Amino acid sequence: MDKIHAVITGIGSYVPKYVMTNEEISQHVDTSDEWIKKRIGIEERHILKPEEGKGITYLAEQAVADMRTRRDFDPLSVEAVVFSTTTPDYFIPNSASLLAYKLGMTNAFGFDLNAACSGFIYGLEVGSAFIVSGKYKKVLVVAGDVLSSVTNYEDRNTCPIFADGCGCVLLEPTTEDVGIMDSYMRSDGDSVEHLHLLGGGSVNPASYETIDNRLHYIWQDGKVVFKHAVSSMADSCEQVLKRNNLTKDEIDWVVPHQANRRIIDSVAHHLGIPTEKVMINIEKYGNSSAGTIPLCLKQWETSLKKGDKIILTAFGGGFTWGAIYLKWGYNS
Ligand code: UT7
Repeated sequence: MDKIHAVITGIGSYVPKYVMTNEEISQHVDTSDEWIKKRIGIEERHILKPEEGKGITYLAEQAVADMRTRRDFDPLSVEAVVFSTTTPDYFIPNSASLLAYKLGMTNAFGFDLNAACSGFIYGLEVGSAFIVSGKYKKVLVVAGDVLSSVTNYEDRNTCPIFADGCGCVLLEPTTEDVGIMDSYMRSDGDSVEHLHLLGGGSVNPASYETIDNRLHYIWQDGKVVFKHAVSSMADSCEQVLKRNNLTKDEIDWVVPHQANRRIIDSVAHHLGIPTEKVMINIEKYGNSSAGTIPLCLKQWETSLKKGDKIILTAFGGGFTWGAIYLKWGYNS
């Protein structure tokens, strides 16, 4: 029997309309447009204003609508929704169930997956395994975050970086030589002191004290995270290249998580991949955590050709990290 691969057959993305500039960030904390551009590579980011009363499933709805303008499908045919996010609308119900209900995917089961900035590649890994099992024919993988909802706009180590955005892909089976070919996934929970959001969970349930201590915001030791991000993403990419006997010249695109332009450049440099083959849009969108990779893929969708060899790589809270090797499934 021919080998089944999971292949991406459609992609969509959405960012909120409001653009927060570096100038606006500079009004909250002691920083500057020049510093943010030079040290992080971000010029502006999109933010979902809290007064809109919406959350990540709103962004996801728009992303799926975007996908359906090019790749329409019957919502009733979707069997599973994997929703990677660290900023769900609520603890309960999960965002996948809310989204499936809003989109009329009433034959699907759904669940949220928390892998922080690695959410998209973790979601693809899980969705792909469902397809390869032979049991499921259509899986929706959604990945995105509203990081502005957990960002401390008085902390200059985090607020210039974080942003909001969401993407989605439809996964289907194929016996052609395209789709998700290999993956290398890792996590390390011995990192809690370096990158965390400690409030509101079962250890520190929400209280006046957790609010006063700002435990509901993301906190990071930027330097430590930076070093781990570079070495872990570069190593994951090396692993999938080696395992699949791929030379760097054979790779058409590398799509790295967009956390800091200097992290992206270091990973590309380490791999010996020229910048022209690296998808980079951090300057306009910042770090929307699980959303960054699908935002890139969507932006470059019309440049991608069937069979293009692509490496996705991410690193984030957990720590979580990894790389996926895929061959693009269609011409636009
Ligand atoms: O998405 C996955 C999770 N996150 C990441 O991957 C982020 C990884 N880390 C980073 O991107 C960077 O470490 C930061 C952007 C957070 C910080 O940049 P850095 O170049 O590592 O700065 P630093 O912490 O080494 O600090 C250098 C200097 C310090 O001043 P002194 O002590 O040298 O006088 C900081 O106080 O830059 C200062 N600084 C700032 N200055 C202006 C730190 N943040 C800022 C700021 N504006 N926003």
